[in-house]
Amino acid sequence: MIYNTIFPERERFIERLQKEQILKQRGIVIWFTGLSGSGKSTLAQELEKKFHSKDLLTVVLDGDKIRKGLNANLGFSYSDRIENIRRVAEVSKLFFCTGIITIAACITPTREMQNTVRQIIGDDDLFEIYLNTPIDICEKRDVKGLYKKARNGQVKNFTGISSIYEIPKNPDIILNTANQSIEECSCLIFNRIINKIGLSEV
Ligand code: ADX
Repeated sequence: MIYNTIFPERERFIERLQKEQILKQRGIVIWFTGLSGSGKSTLAQELEKKFHSKDLLTVVLDGDKIRKGLNANLGFSYSDRIENIRRVAEVSKLFFCTGIITIAACITPTREMQNTVRQIIGDDDLFEIYLNTPIDICEKRDVKGLYKKARNGQVKNFTGISSIYEIPKNPDIILNTANQSIEECSCLIFNRIINKIGLSEV
């Protein structure tokens, strides 16, 4: 309290805009939602490469990786997933407020979780991408062998099999990686985002 009186918040911290000016880019959160195997991580990586080729600074927050570190104490119960998403959204906020293009790739299976993300980040700074790759395609890909395990009952609460996935209400873009190549998808996203961060199209 005493500190707040002596040094008001505004004067103690460097503003977001000043940080964005250093980086010469606008911070934003690109949030991928969709089933396991829908292409979230692959697209996040492709997109990151595209930004880097334009000297733009990014960070990728990938569900699988975050769950090995920051969220290692969380599982896949409903309440753990809510907490997982809340933490990733809060970390995203720290990054985008530093001017960094933040790419999050988490299933984010329910409207409640998708709303939490929107609440924490805000409409102006969130670009939500719904990957509606059909479940049969995701299951055929089964990159991690988890669909098979979910069908056998070895993995519980598996999204799309034994746990719900609710389609987001109003995503900024909907893509299906079964019909469109990764290159096509990442170009579409890149060209939409680049307008938002004040640079011309590729
Ligand atoms: S979320 O539901 O909380 O948003 P998150 O994206 O962090 O999920 O993690 C999903 C990843 O965890 C999947 O890509 C998969 O590799 C792994 N995983 C392990 N168990 C499950 C499960 N029960 N449901 C979904 N994904 C699971």
